[in-house]
Amino acid sequence: IRQQRKQDIKDVGDLKNLDALRVELLGKKGPITQALRGMRDLPADQRPKFGQFANTVRDELQGAIEARRDELKKDRLNKQLANEKIDVTLPGKPVAQGQPHVIQQIIDQIEDLFIGMGYQVLTGPEVEEDKYNFEMMNLPKDHPARDMQDTFYITKDILMRTQTSPMQARTLEKHDFSKGPLKMISPGVVYRRDTDDPTHSHQFHQVEGIVIDKHITMADLKGTLELIAHELFGNRFDIRLRPSYFPFTEPSVEADITCFNCGGKGCAVCKYTGWIEVLGAGMVHPNVLEMAGVDSEVYGGFAFGLGPDRFAMLKYGVDDIRNFYLNDVRFLTQFSKKG
Ligand code: PHE
Repeated sequence: IRQQRKQDIKDVGDLKNLDALRVELLGKKGPITQALRGMRDLPADQRPKFGQFANTVRDELQGAIEARRDELKKDRLNKQLANEKIDVTLPGKPVAQGQPHVIQQIIDQIEDLFIGMGYQVLTGPEVEEDKYNFEMMNLPKDHPARDMQDTFYITKDILMRTQTSPMQARTLEKHDFSKGPLKMISPGVVYRRDTDDPTHSHQFHQVEGIVIDKHITMADLKGTLELIAHELFGNRFDIRLRPSYFPFTEPSVEADITCFNCGGKGCAVCKYTGWIEVLGAGMVHPNVLEMAGVDSEVYGGFAFGLGPDRFAMLKYGVDDIRNFYLNDVRFLTQFSKKG
């Protein structure tokens, strides 16, 4: 029986059953306890021997149980370790990688170009004062040219900026010309009260640029615009200036770029002109300089405002500006730099 019990202990497969067996063998109702209890019925001279024997059996069984318990615990640990083993040679799950928005990619490219030429990159408030958005840009309160830009007003004097041009006034006001010329670009979002359609969005981007120093000419403006065209699209793209009107520049121009679709030959996209309009620019109006406290007899220069949305549409053949603002990843991931 003793041997059989020891074998039983070795055969137990898990810790729970081992514990049940321990209770069965060594518990209050177990055979050993019973035997020791029955000892008082034995003749006195046999009691010590019997007691000794029962104790030995109990110790042996207890030892066997403990040994088995250690074994089972070790097994359990080994199994757990085997389960949790990591195969470091398995290929990982690919992590989806984000990327800058296509408009931001264009802005980044423009910023890199201008930083390389020593321009500062500054950003301004989207909720702007009427003073900076219009008045200091030579557009007094009742000026008819305000109609060119339908505006979201917050109050009578505060509005969502309709252009990044207020950054001209803001930087002119602060610039210390004794430390050198002003060369600045300012990218950002602007707002107009337009009804959204394929070519209009009530929110879009602009990059403003301004250079003020002594002896700046329109040739400097044209050369700078040409650089943008070459950098963003390639050397076969030319710039053409057409006379235009903006209240804050005089003379004012609209700049066209060689048509992407036909390379300048003429097609439906460019209405058979070979050119596509991409930005407004001009020589900064003396009124703008004077209102910002800059002596227009000594200093002058050019400014331009271009639309990255339009650039992106032309560059990638996107025919609806609203795509840029819908955040549809199927659209946006097409412009991943890797792809
Ligand atoms: N702010 C003008 C616009 O939004 C563009 C512009 C900027 C024109 C700077 C001239 C000089 O239409």
